[in-house]
Parts: sequence; C-alpha cells; structure tokens
Amino acid sequence: MLGPVLLAAARSDGIRRLVTASPLTRPVVGRFVAGERLPESLAVAARLAGGGLRVTLDHLGENVTGRAEALRGRDACLALAEALAATGLGERAELSVKLSALGRALPGGEDLAAEHALRVAEAAGAAGTALTLDMEDHTATALTLDVHARLRERFPATGVAVQSYLRRTEEDCLALAAAGARVRLVKGAYREPPAVAFQERAAVDRSFVRCLRILMAGPGYPMVATHDPRLIALAGALAARLGRAEDAYEYQMLYGIRPDEQRRLAAAGRRVRVYIPYGTDWYGYFMRRLAERPANLAFFLRSAATR
Ligand code: FDA
Repeated sequence: MLGPVLLAAARSDGIRRLVTASPLTRPVVGRFVAGERLPESLAVAARLAGGGLRVTLDHLGENVTGRAEALRGRDACLALAEALAATGLGERAELSVKLSALGRALPGGEDLAAEHALRVAEAAGAAGTALTLDMEDHTATALTLDVHARLRERFPATGVAVQSYLRRTEEDCLALAAAGARVRLVKGAYREPPAVAFQERAAVDRSFVRCLRILMAGPGYPMVATHDPRLIALAGALAARLGRAEDAYEYQMLYGIRPDEQRRLAAAGRRVRVYIPYGTDWYGYFMRRLAERPANLAFFLRSAATR
C-alpha cells in the first residue's frame, strides 16, 4: 500500500518542498545519489570502475517546465560527456537521460527534447561512449521510442529503457531486438493505470521473463537492469543456453542497491554497469527508490529520528 502513496508524493510540490528542505533527508539520499555535483559523481564512477564495474551517469532532472531549465539540463549532459571523455573509460562510462529533463513537457517540448537529445548523443559519440534514454511514465513511451529510433540512425549505440510492467513492452521488445540495439529491460518505477500496465508483481515479473527471452534470443545487446536475484540468475542461464558471450549482454543495477551482488557478478566475469545519479534535483528519483522498498522508508524515518 505504501508504494502508491510514495509515488503520489513523488509528484507533489508541497511534499517535495518539505522533504528537500529537511537537513535530515540528506544522509539517506546519499545512499542512492552520488552527490549534488559532477566531480563527486565522477569520483564515485572512478571508484566503481576501479573495481571492474561499468557505469552510466545520470544528471538528475525530470519534468522541467521552462526553456532555460531544459537548456541547463542539456548543458549538464554536454558537460558530463566532456568530463567522461577525460576519464578515458570509453564505453565503460556512458550517460543516461530522461527526455523530460530536456524539455519534453514544455509546449512544443517534444521537438525541443529530441533536438537536445541529439546534441547529447553527438557529445556522447565524440566522447567515445553512448547515451541511453531512460523511460518515464507511459505518456512518454511512444515519443521516447521514436526519438531512440531517430538517434540510432546517426548513433547506433544509443540505448533505450523499456518497462516490463507495460502491456505493450513485449511487442516493443520484438521491434527493438535488432542488430546492435542496446535495450535496457527494467520492471518500471512509475504509478500506471491497469489499462496500460500490469498491477501484480507476479505479472510484471512474468512479462520481464517474456521480454528477456525475446531480447536474449535476438541480435541486439540486452541490458538486464534488475536487482531481482531470480531474474539475474535466469538471465545468466538464458545467455548460457543461447550461447551468448559474456560481452554480448550486461547486467545493470542502481548505485547503492545490492552493491555486494554488483561486485560478485563482476568478479565472476559478468559485465555489470552501475547507474549513478547525481545533481540537486534528486527528489523524484529518491521517492521512487523509497516506493520500491518500504523498508527504505523505515530506514529513512529511523535515521531522521536519531538525529
Ligand atoms: P524488485 O523491486 O522486485 O527488487 C528485487 C530486490 O532488489 C529487492 O528484494 C531488494 O533486495 C532489491 N531492491 C530493489 N529496489 C530496491 C530499493 N529501492 N532499495 C533497496 N533494495 C532494493 N525504471 C523506469 O521506470 N525507467 C527507467 O528508465 C529505469 N532505469 C533503471 C536503470 C537501472 C540500471 C535499474 C537497475 C533500474 C531502473 N529503473 C527504471 C527502475 C526499475 O524499473 C525498478 O523500479 C527497480 O529496478 C526495482 O525493481 P527490481 O527489478 O530491482 O526488482
């Protein structure tokens, strides 16, 4: 029951002001967010890369409502791409972005976000790496897939996330399982109506398995983004059964979640990429992490009470 309440709170400006203004929140946020500034996130990336992990960095931002803000979102991604070039990590360090951080929600924002995404994909390519488009709520799915297809014409390594909780995603996976396509399969983190999304965890998991089978059997590059031990094991078993090489797919997990498992898989020779979010606009991201696991809320409240 708590999950939907927290996801509703993630969209409330009043609660956002309360939570973000509280000094008690910061230490807990730090578990999931690498820092507010780029250098902090690069330091985290370097540390994880030193331990054999790959990374994708996300300058946090979503639902921006002004052109200047959208431009700042784009410029933050360009600065990130430039900074990644200097690390020399190549495709071991890539970028992730949400189209709503680039202006999707503005009037005429679909074209604006697509233009900004093109600039970011160019900068990622120049830095020797790639961009992956995060997937937001279902109102953005068609646009995100369309922008992804257009970006791939010039930057084939551009990736996209798809969410197994959406009823459409199995079909989308069939269309996306093309040569070289980098597809990040996730369960989905937003609150969606039954008309478009499975509501039961078991149905979401079963859809994840169907999508995983399609992606693993296809000629693309699946990015298996989950912390779920059963799905991680299944992905490995499927890859082995299909003769997929260890460098022909990867696991992805979020910064701060199951770090031992991230290291364990990497030590066993698997490709593992950690999604590292950073920036000041951490509220929506943080609330989705609380909603995924009510125990996180208890941890948050306990640490607030003891300060
Ligand atoms: P599930 O929620 O069943 O969790 C499995 C286990 O993982 C739990 O039992 C617990 O041990 C651990 N766990 C999971 N979440 C946790 C948390 N918040 N805190 C502590 N432990 C936790 N979503 C989306 O809609 N669009 C997107 O673009 C992305 N992008 C993305 C990138 C990457 C790299 C990952 C890993 C995830 C996303 N997501 C996402 C989020 C995704 O949709 C989903 O909400 C979370 O990954 C949680 O689902 P799991 O698959 O981990 O399974």
